[in-house]
Amino acid sequence: MVFYTAFEEMAKDSRWARYMQDVEEFVSPYQHSEDPVSDFRQLLQSEGYQVLHCDVAPQVLFFPSEMQRRDFLKSVCPFLDRVPVDQKDNFLDDWLQRMEKLNGLSKVVGSSEEPKYYIHFNMMVAMAIKLHQHLVPGCEEDRLLTSLAEQEVYTSMDKPDLYNLGCAPLTLLAAKQVDELWPVLTWPRQPLPVLDIGCGPGDVARKVLAPRLPPGTKLVACDISTKMLEFCRQHNALPGTITYEQLDVVQPDLENSAVWQYAPFGKVFCLLLLHWVPDNRRAVQNIQKLLVPGGEAVFSIIANMVFYTAFEEMAKDSRWARYMQDVEEFVSPYQHSEDQVSDFRQLLQSEGYQVLRCDVAPQVLFFPSEMQRRDFLKSVCPFLDRVPEDQKDNFLDDWLQRMENLNGLSKDVGSSEEPKYYIHFNIMVAMARKL
Ligand SMILES: C[S@@+](CC[C@H](N)C(=O)[O-])C[C@H]1O[C@@H](n2cnc3c(N)ncnc32)[C@H](O)[C@@H]1O
Repeated sequence: MVFYTAFEEMAKDSRWARYMQDVEEFVSPYQHSEDPVSDFRQLLQSEGYQVLHCDVAPQVLFFPSEMQRRDFLKSVCPFLDRVPVDQKDNFLDDWLQRMEKLNGLSKVVGSSEEPKYYIHFNMMVAMAIKLHQHLVPGCEEDRLLTSLAEQEVYTSMDKPDLYNLGCAPLTLLAAKQVDELWPVLTWPRQPLPVLDIGCGPGDVARKVLAPRLPPGTKLVACDISTKMLEFCRQHNALPGTITYEQLDVVQPDLENSAVWQYAPFGKVFCLLLLHWVPDNRRAVQNIQKLLVPGGEAVFSIIANMVFYTAFEEMAKDSRWARYMQDVEEFVSPYQHSEDQVSDFRQLLQSEGYQVLRCDVAPQVLFFPSEMQRRDFLKSVCPFLDRVPEDQKDNFLDDWLQRMENLNGLSKDVGSSEEPKYYIHFNIMVAMARKL
């Protein structure tokens, strides 16, 4: 990132050198690498991981104003505290000027739209599995994985252990989405608590949200499922920062919920939840009540997916119909919409929000093995509990086969790399502000 190149230049400038003697401590370890992917891959492999994915791609952060971009850079500049007050502005101007010359900052001033201010950098994203958890036979974790894979009773989204084994791709997806939106969020000096609704096993709360929050911000993470919350408290506790509480996002007596005592919230994250909730209007009303005026909400919703098309087909199949009479309760409310963005936009506007962003894009989740993809799908299948024991495997095979026929599942068996197993869907991401 030219962020670092500019620092290295400034450390040689007599005006700033005395404040930047340890500049290399603050430069990414991959800044001067000739092949960062191979360096990081080798590091992970040598430390007992199987690398599932590792690549570098250009990224852009955008800001609605030059001041917001400047404030953001100020907040991540490790040297500014050391520079005397009367030189801070010069230091910052010099840093920004150098970044601009190095093509790390840019702006686009369109005719109708607001100007947008960009920061450019390259980002490496990697995913790895700790080897002994999955591959060494006979160890504690391996038995846990095996017994979970063979477990016979499944309820709708109430299987934190099983879900957690496969949810790493979703956590990565949430991190990517949150990173894209983060610079647009506004943080007052005294940040209000932040709420994560439908937190699942708590990975996103602890690994994605908590590390990005301004210091001292309280994070309340909630879910309808007590089993999920138990799992969160055991595996994703962060005392002093995260509190886990139960909440049904559509519950009518919101004011009596445990979460209400922490309101109003400055931000609400509602990631991969609203496709599970038939009454989206009630959900966005409740979220609106929980927010402070001016507070912001971030939503990610499965807009449509062959996962649901396959369920709808199966509900008409005489082998499965009796277990799926309420199938529409489990289909995303946007699955059959002709214009998902406009529907959700209108819903938000009619419930007292200003919509800052709303769009739909194709997404892919990938899994290192067919079994892991199957287990993940098992963990999110709401009908399997109802199917008799001796038919569960047939049900699952039929569901997966239909999804494959509908091009919702695919695989890529490369020559040198591990095969990769994909799930395809469209995701809607929205950001809105309470008016
Ligand atoms: C797919 S998980 C998403 C987990 C996490 N937000 C993420 O992005 O990875 C959906 C979660 O929503 C929870 N959920 C479903 N209906 C809910 C409701 N009405 N109120 C609150 N949580 C709900 C489920 O129990 C599940 O843990």
